[in-house]
Amino acid sequence: MGSQDEGKRLAAVAAAERVQNGMLVGLGTGSTVAYLLTALAERGVRAQFVCTSPRTEAIAGQLGLPVRDFDEVTRLDVAIDGADEVTPDFWLVKGGGAAHTREKLVAAASAAFIVIVDSTKLVPALRGPVPLELVRFGLASTMARLGSVRLREVPPSPDGGVIADYLGPIEDPATLAASLASTPGVIEHGLFPPEMVTEVVVGGDGEATWLARASASTTQSQGASR
Ligand code: 5RP
Repeated sequence: MGSQDEGKRLAAVAAAERVQNGMLVGLGTGSTVAYLLTALAERGVRAQFVCTSPRTEAIAGQLGLPVRDFDEVTRLDVAIDGADEVTPDFWLVKGGGAAHTREKLVAAASAAFIVIVDSTKLVPALRGPVPLELVRFGLASTMARLGSVRLREVPPSPDGGVIADYLGPIEDPATLAASLASTPGVIEHGLFPPEMVTEVVVGGDGEATWLARASASTTQSQGASR
């Protein structure tokens, strides 16, 4: 296993230990979350899970993790998910796996949102691109208004949205997030504000380090190879 994958695994294993019996847990999408699913199955914790993509749901099913339909619940105890970029003040870019719309909905419904990343995902400032999910109707017009945007060669989202990436500069994430959110035709964008994030677990150098949002300083370290 390469060091980046090992970092993902360490972060995922550390986060899995936060899941207690009886919890309702949101599961993100991606390779880091795949390690989380394995760790949860190995722990045998008696929790229930809401998945953010058919991919995550398929793996959860294979591992025997009990899955609930998101339409059946309004509030989750915690959501755990990966990210593409994390800044020191906890702005995130998400959606490399095109699941950012569902991921944001599940994170918003959760009492806590734990982000699991390997250390290569830590950046001084967001670089992008910023994933977008767009309405199919009027796509050319929406893209013209957005300006610097490229369609991604992937299938539509499970909700029928078109996946694209905003390639313009990210001078101020809050300003860009507000601008994207107010653009007709944009279903959701992959900028996640710090207020959504409870903690970030970073895997690297043989250990998982927990970062808390308030100061983004190290609050707890957990040993590696378990
Ligand atoms: C999917 C996501 C993923 O969490 C993000 O792309 C990170 O993926 P990975 O864990 O494979 O590096 O936002 O939409």
